[in-house]
Amino acid sequence: MAFNYYCIDAGSQYCPCYLAKTDNCLICSILQGKEYCDCKWQGICVYQEYIWANGKIEERKSLCVTIAEKKYINDRLFTLTIEIPSDSLIRAYNQPGAFAFLRPANFLEYYDVPLCVMDVDESKKHLTFAINIIGPKSKALAISENAILIRGPYWNGLFGLKHIKSSYNKNWIVIGRGIGQASLLPVVKNLLRGNNRITVLLDPGNLKVNLVEKEINKLGIEFQVFDLNSSFHKIRLKEIIEKSETDFIYSCGSDAQHKFIQNVLNKVGYKIPLVISNNYQLCCGEGICGSCESMIDGELIHLCKIQLGSEQVLGG
Ligand SMILES: Cc1cc2nc3c(=O)[nH]c(=O)nc-3n(C[C@H](O)[C@H](O)[C@H](O)COP(=O)(O)OP(=O)(O)OC[C@H]3O[C@@H](n4cnc5c(N)ncnc54)[C@H](O)[C@@H]3O)c2cc1C
Ligand code: FES
Repeated sequence: MAFNYYCIDAGSQYCPCYLAKTDNCLICSILQGKEYCDCKWQGICVYQEYIWANGKIEERKSLCVTIAEKKYINDRLFTLTIEIPSDSLIRAYNQPGAFAFLRPANFLEYYDVPLCVMDVDESKKHLTFAINIIGPKSKALAISENAILIRGPYWNGLFGLKHIKSSYNKNWIVIGRGIGQASLLPVVKNLLRGNNRITVLLDPGNLKVNLVEKEINKLGIEFQVFDLNSSFHKIRLKEIIEKSETDFIYSCGSDAQHKFIQNVLNKVGYKIPLVISNNYQLCCGEGICGSCESMIDGELIHLCKIQLGSEQVLGG
């Protein structure tokens, strides 16, 4: 066992998954076909779960749901609010890092687009997504009118989830740029429940809009508008990190943004956890197709399901 990591689905209703049936479990050595236990223990025994399940696998199926609202913010960006038919399912989506695959009702699976859950309204059973129109898949979503297919929930939309879930009374800086801001609200809402103090920095990026501005205001949090490309704001970020006695940072944006923040932390000599949004190319989300595989510390890691620290994902 080279280094420690855990599977986001282990212990959830979606464990065991098909990987266990084919001796490809991501964390259980016995369910990898080995004869000894050398698991990355995360509080449950996946092998035991597999025995108890007696061959039954809980699948995430594509559900056809109603579009409650579609709103264009500009010609490259729209939000989509959909109705989820079940209370337990809507609760399962109400987590930091939650995402789903969406595609138009009459399109094939390869049109699936991974999208962060931007906001959840449990009382109305509404999920809201923000979609940047770029290529074939997002353009197909843009022409969907009444119904849409959704497959989920998936939870590995960010790396460093344990820091968010266990944080109480700490100082956080949350930095969101462009469409990256789509994963910001569930994180901020979770941190507020833990009585954490949050400094929010919003950079509109190429989309030229701060998606979450209104909701952040409603939560009573003041935000600062940033341009992470400007040298003035680069220096300002260093000052904010030093002055606010920061315990954690959440960066939602591109990998270039994550690396830039990692460099700032290294320069100011701050050894604090950096939590980052997951930007890998995802296709199945189930650890099967291999599109998210990356060689990290000599191991082939499926980043759709594996939780790692940002230093392992970004390197250095
Ligand atoms: C966990 C996660 C959450 C995301 N959340 C959002 C979101 O809330 N809103 C949003 O607009 N976008 C989000 N994205 C990115 C979105 O999935 C891609 O922009 C989309 O798949 C592009 O598809 P396309 O056919 O429109 O464009 P393409 O022309 O196919 O691709 C444009 C860019 O998107 C990347 N991309 C293409 N396919 C995928 C894929 N299957 N997975 C990841 N990246 C891909 C490509 O590398 C390329 O850089 C998220 C991605 C991930 C991994
Ligand atoms: S997205 Fe298919 S293996 Fe990770």
